[in-house]
Amino acid sequence: MPADYEIKKDVHFVGVYDEFIRTFDIIMKTANGSSYNSYLIRGDEGVAIIDTVKKQFEDEFFENIEKLCSYDEIKYIVLQHMEPDHSGALKELSKRAPNAILLTSALGAKMTKDLYQHSLKVEKVGTGKSVSLGNKTIEFLSTPFLHWPETMSCYLKEDKMLFSCDVFGAHYCDKRLYNDKVGDFRYAFRYYYDHIMRPFKSYVVKALDLYEKFDTEIIAPSHGPILRARVERYFNRYRDWSTAVTYKKREVEDKIVSIFYVSSYENTYAMALAINEGLSTQKNIRANMYDLTALEDENMVNLLEESDGILVGTPTINADAPKPTWDLLASMAFVQRAGRKGATFGSYGWSGEAPGMLLERMKGLKMKTPLEPLAIKLVPNKEEIAQCVEYGKKFAEVML
Ligand code: FEO
Repeated sequence: MPADYEIKKDVHFVGVYDEFIRTFDIIMKTANGSSYNSYLIRGDEGVAIIDTVKKQFEDEFFENIEKLCSYDEIKYIVLQHMEPDHSGALKELSKRAPNAILLTSALGAKMTKDLYQHSLKVEKVGTGKSVSLGNKTIEFLSTPFLHWPETMSCYLKEDKMLFSCDVFGAHYCDKRLYNDKVGDFRYAFRYYYDHIMRPFKSYVVKALDLYEKFDTEIIAPSHGPILRARVERYFNRYRDWSTAVTYKKREVEDKIVSIFYVSSYENTYAMALAINEGLSTQKNIRANMYDLTALEDENMVNLLEESDGILVGTPTINADAPKPTWDLLASMAFVQRAGRKGATFGSYGWSGEAPGMLLERMKGLKMKTPLEPLAIKLVPNKEEIAQCVEYGKKFAEVML
């Protein structure tokens, strides 16, 4: 372990580097690998370990710890998050340091038992609670849903260090460790935010409000570089990214309704046009149409996030909805879904089940689905086009 892995006096990085991981949590690309950051704090009355590492790297983790302390000096194990990339070595650590007290959130306490059946004494902690290591004090901060319900953070008072868990993390493996020494990781920092934190923006804002009550000189996240230079920039970035939509909505005030469609022979497209016309007859509705076959993924997620109402138009192909429509709904995983309304429609040749299938998926995503799917056989005639206009009006009414 390099000497400069002592971040502040008696505060050490004891994490590990996963240089060759290329996909994280099934969905994230990790071109630069990742790190599982763990920290050791030595006070004059004992040692605390903050988080562990992925199980397959635990040997290296224990080697790092053994260079700095004996296991019987470990007074506290702080587990901020139960996802196995941070809790994976807990079982083995609990055997090596059986007298340590496990400090975690109330929900985390239950989860650790379910996950690891350890026999450590557990104390539940959260905002307002702290523990002392003599000359060092760890204060606990409740920061749930970032990005699991049990997640929490800590603040090391004397050293002005914030241990932020996955918040401010990046999958970016660079053994130079500090943000002023590693390569350009801005893309990884933003990508991590978009995939992990973005669906929980309102919780990010709450966490920032809490963090900003403390004077932070160093942010020590659970992945990627330790942020010790220009710390305030990271707070500002997270706040900007987490409040941008709210600002836009404040400026627009209208309800934004997006019609996403695919159309083989312009029949579903004709329906989309008519629905758009119906929507646009209503004041305070701003409706727009998007051809899914020409929409980049990033734009798709941005549009979903901005939309109060989401209509999806699709033909039925081989008794299914085509892949771009499923991809659209899969992208809902990256945005907050609460309160969004959805509806589906489409032209069909034979069976026409695709709009119904997509509506079921919307229900599964806990979206509100006030209207039945509108399915029209082959080319919509004049009356059917009028029906589509009416459908758009009805959707606008439920939006308002
Ligand atoms: Fe890095 Fe959510 O675990």
